Amino acid sequence: MNDAVPEQHEVSRRSVLGAAGAAGAGLALGATPAAAEEVSAREPRRQGGTMIGVPFQRRSAVRVALIGLGNRGGAMIELYLAVPGVKVVALCDPVRAKAERAAAKVVAAGQPAPAVYVHGDHDYEQLLKRGDIDFAHVATPWDSHFEIAKSALLNGVHVGVECPVALQLDQLWDLVNLSERTRRHCMQLENCCYGRNEMRVLRMAHAGKFGDLLHGAGAYNHDLRGLMFDPAYYEGPWRRLWHTRLRGDLYPNHGFGPVANYMDLNRGDRAVSIVSVGSPSLGLAQYRAANMPAGDPSWKETYIESDRTISLVQTARGRVIRLEHDVSTPHPYSRINSLGGTLGLFEDYPERIYIEPDHKNDEWGDFSKYAEWDHWLWKEHANPPGGHGGMDYMLVFRLMQCMRLGLVPDFDVYDAATWTSPVPLSNLSIKQHGMPQRIPDFTRGEWKKPRPGMDSEKPAEV
Ligand SMILES: NC(=O)c1ccc[n+]([C@@H]2O[C@H](COP(=O)([O-])OP(=O)(O)OC[C@H]3O[C@@H](n4cnc5c(N)ncnc54)[C@H](O)[C@@H]3O)[C@@H](O)[C@H]2O)c1
Repeated sequence: MNDAVPEQHEVSRRSVLGAAGAAGAGLALGATPAAAEEVSAREPRRQGGTMIGVPFQRRSAVRVALIGLGNRGGAMIELYLAVPGVKVVALCDPVRAKAERAAAKVVAAGQPAPAVYVHGDHDYEQLLKRGDIDFAHVATPWDSHFEIAKSALLNGVHVGVECPVALQLDQLWDLVNLSERTRRHCMQLENCCYGRNEMRVLRMAHAGKFGDLLHGAGAYNHDLRGLMFDPAYYEGPWRRLWHTRLRGDLYPNHGFGPVANYMDLNRGDRAVSIVSVGSPSLGLAQYRAANMPAGDPSWKETYIESDRTISLVQTARGRVIRLEHDVSTPHPYSRINSLGGTLGLFEDYPERIYIEPDHKNDEWGDFSKYAEWDHWLWKEHANPPGGHGGMDYMLVFRLMQCMRLGLVPDFDVYDAATWTSPVPLSNLSIKQHGMPQRIPDFTRGEWKKPRPGMDSEKPAEV
């Protein structure tokens, strides 16, 4: 039950729809996609109050819907069911068997059978109109993220989206504007920000252990060739098909989010520009030649995505962040996850640290000796359930805690837009032979104010 007073819309749904339509019409009339990107790189006029520092309404239980119940959604539902005070009330996936499998998990957890929406790609709209959903988790293929997030906001539902939250700059601005107008949070569900190492480095960085911060790096370097060509893994070839459509960093969030937190982006610093270069695109075609039988549908595809995209982001305070994306060549998994400052640096994969005065003579130190710097979430939940080493659970636990207790979320629509902006902007930079691209100030000037983020204090009540 939601025992809070209903969260008020600042403006009527009609005026929101009108504004969104007008923005869309403007873009439709705009000339080339590049021109549209240039227009939307400038900050449009704010249409509602900021969402910075806006707390959730307090509630005794959080009513959750999951949209998309494939690999990700089908696993994340178990974590929602494991967190006290969460009720999974509705599920949506056009593949009935996946929705029903997830519904059975809800019943097995002792909750009432959830409503199930299985009638095609737009049935999420019916789900979001129910009026009894506090939060929707979107774990669908990338090209549907924007429309589903938009629909959630317009129906008064807080929404969290798997990465990337959207694929175009004008879509990122639409989500910022809609979140501000509807007074609902739109969040990038960046689980990697909740990794144990990431949270420890974050606390150490904020305590000055690395000195003045200078540079960092993050990546999604994950050999997905086998999964992308496995017809039984994803629901269709959607992920592989992106490699036929776009050159650039398709998945910057896992690498960018944690480093953005270390450097307090949107909380005292901000990302101002990005320059990207891409390698040739050879990996998927070579994998296909070696592994896929003649006549496989993949043989009709032409891959254009760079096997490795490397980007450099500059911040307003002059710091440098390197981002990498590579899912199409052999390599051990790495998100790089490094941070350097005037007192030394941390590098992950494998984890190692070198900071003065603790280390000298070019010898890396043992990061496990710094467990005292663990975030309170990791001190409280030593063995979290679920995948990805427990960070998925931390994300869900903390978000649901913020919603139950009426706290400000650890991240917001401005972070979602910033962490996702390398998708369109790396593409533009590569198209323009490495020309730097301006990263918009999605906060419209509010980035200058320091404020809390992921480095939260443990609430008095849990
Ligand atoms: N954060 C992480 O660590 C992590 C890990 C894996 C995947 N992901 C992200 O999760 C998302 C889903 O990936 P996946 O591996 O589960 O893919 P998947 O193909 O296994 O699952 C996608 C599901 O969405 C459903 N779907 C498609 N269109 C829909 C619609 N219009 N409405 C409702 N459901 C719809 C499909 O039927 C399918 O069941 C992607 O954005 C991916 O990048 C994130």
